Amino acid sequence: MRVILVLIFFYSVISSISPLYGFDPLDPHANITIKWDLMQSTPDASDVRVSLFNFQLYRHIDQPGWRMSWDWTGDEVIWNMWGAETTEQGNCTKFSGTQLPYCCEKSPVIIDLMPGAPYNLQTANCCKGGVLSSMTQDISKFGATFQMNVAASTNSSDFVLPHNFTLGLPGYSCGGPFEVAPSKFFVDGSRRRTQALRTWNVTCAYSQFLASSNPTCCVSLSAFYNNTIVPCPKCSCNCQELSHTKCVKPGETPSLLRQKHDPNEEPPPVVICSQHMCPIRVHWHVKQSYREYWRVKMTVTNLNVMKNYSNWNLVVLHPNLESLAQAFSFNYRALDQYGYINDTGMLWGIRDYNDVLLQAGDKGNVQTEMILHKDPGTFTFREGWAFPRRILFNGDECVMPLPDDYPRLPNSGHSALASSFTFLLSLLVLTTII
Ligand SMILES: *[C@@H]1O[C@H](CO)[C@@H](O)[C@H](O)[C@H]1NC(C)=O
Ligand SMILES: *[C@@H]1O[C@H](CO)[C@@H](O)[C@H](O)[C@H]1NC(C)=O
Ligand SMILES: *[C@@H]1O[C@H](CO)[C@@H](O)[C@H](O)[C@H]1NC(C)=O
Ligand SMILES: *[C@@H]1O[C@H](CO)[C@@H](O)[C@H](O)[C@H]1NC(C)=O
Ligand SMILES: *[C@@H]1O[C@H](CO)[C@@H](O)[C@H](O)[C@H]1NC(C)=O
Ligand SMILES: *[C@@H]1O[C@H](CO)[C@@H](O)[C@H](O)[C@H]1NC(C)=O
Ligand SMILES: *[C@@H]1O[C@H](CO)[C@@H](O)[C@H](O)[C@H]1NC(C)=O
Ligand SMILES: *[C@@H]1O[C@H](CO)[C@@H](O)[C@H](O)[C@H]1NC(C)=O
Repeated sequence: MRVILVLIFFYSVISSISPLYGFDPLDPHANITIKWDLMQSTPDASDVRVSLFNFQLYRHIDQPGWRMSWDWTGDEVIWNMWGAETTEQGNCTKFSGTQLPYCCEKSPVIIDLMPGAPYNLQTANCCKGGVLSSMTQDISKFGATFQMNVAASTNSSDFVLPHNFTLGLPGYSCGGPFEVAPSKFFVDGSRRRTQALRTWNVTCAYSQFLASSNPTCCVSLSAFYNNTIVPCPKCSCNCQELSHTKCVKPGETPSLLRQKHDPNEEPPPVVICSQHMCPIRVHWHVKQSYREYWRVKMTVTNLNVMKNYSNWNLVVLHPNLESLAQAFSFNYRALDQYGYINDTGMLWGIRDYNDVLLQAGDKGNVQTEMILHKDPGTFTFREGWAFPRRILFNGDECVMPLPDDYPRLPNSGHSALASSFTFLLSLLVLTTII
């Protein structure tokens, strides 16, 4: 009874503050910040340093990486750039000197350099091919910096910041720039600090709803005490029956794979045909019960034949995670945003072992087993308590089966009261998914 009430509380909290609408209770401060430092300014040119910080606990920027863009307010041109490059030089016919500007585009698109770029083009903290790690996974790789020399052909004494910043990443939108206290920089082995003339921040936020109207991941369940495997809900991500849906039979090579596609753009997912049509499936198996502990096996399967997921991560909500004894084969960190409630954990691969979830095929899966302590008073195999409340893959919500379908304990009394509660739960879950 108490368990059910807790569950209901949970689902109502989730459905009222769902991350689909921009605010994420699991990572309330999540943002990507663009910092624009004006380092030097003369009437004809300015030196600017632009930095990008991924202030997100579990969302990362994977290949093909960020593609930052903005609109100049006047007729500014970029004379030089280090640590990144523009995709186009643009129309520089106005300039007839021996040296042409680096970029004359009104809305330049900037991409990161690849690792191993020529030394004279590098800056400190550049050249990661546009990939930014989440703050939890690798604190040394969550930022990027580039520098440029900009000239406006009108003589304005005040530097005018461009507007309409974008990151070129699905689901992210950026606000307007606002001026903040100038950045300080350590020099001479941290003995002296210099500072920017002026600094502006632009904050960008993610919304799964903006990224894609379809979910990208689903959950299936099983337990040692029942031989039913509860599959991902039908049409979790898409419906196979719809005529425009493409999928491949296992072992088949999709025509898209044989075509050449732009390496700067992520190819659309091509999934193995299934009744849920998700590129990612997470299977949660309640594997074993010991006297004081129980064991869960979790398997993540890549059903997308077009993509290797590097630096993938999972976020799992389960009330028993606060008594997690051990997680095998993955890194684990509690995401206790509210201090008093640590029922949420983040799992990610071990470097050079299973941090890349390979494309669909014989090796397209990663697995972990977790040992959890049976806390007296809360632990039970009844009412689906042993199954996760939410799972996110790379920050995107996975579709769960309905609680009514969860594998049940044999002979568990399915009372009318419990049934109506389950029905209520299903309704709440539905409102979360829709
Ligand atoms: C962005 O995230 C950082 C780190 O969590 C936080 O300090 C900052 O306040 C956030 N910015 C905004 C505008 O929310
Ligand atoms: C390039 O810009 C000049 C003016 O700056 C303009 O006259 C010319 O038509 C432009 N060329 C193209 C191909 O857009
Ligand atoms: C800006 O003004 C300076 C001196 O005030 C002058 O030397 C320079 O040519 C001007 N630049 C442009 C692009 O008009
Ligand atoms: C941003 O770009 C849109 C068109 O892409 C334009 O309508 C809008 O005015 C721009 N915003 C600013 C602040 O200039
Ligand atoms: C501006 O961005 C920097 C780094 O990106 C961050 O440390 C700072 O807190 C931000 N300032 C504000 C007021 O958000
Ligand atoms: C994924 O990685 C494998 C092995 O490293 C490689 O053969 C394959 O081409 C990669 N697939 C994609 C879509 O990049
Ligand atoms: C959860 O919090 C409790 C008390 O705050 C602590 O003892 C326990 O180690 C935490 N569990 C995990 C998995 O971090
Ligand atoms: C296993 O779970 C399913 C789904 O809840 C249920 O229909 C079935 O009766 C259960 N099997 C046994 C042996 O209890």
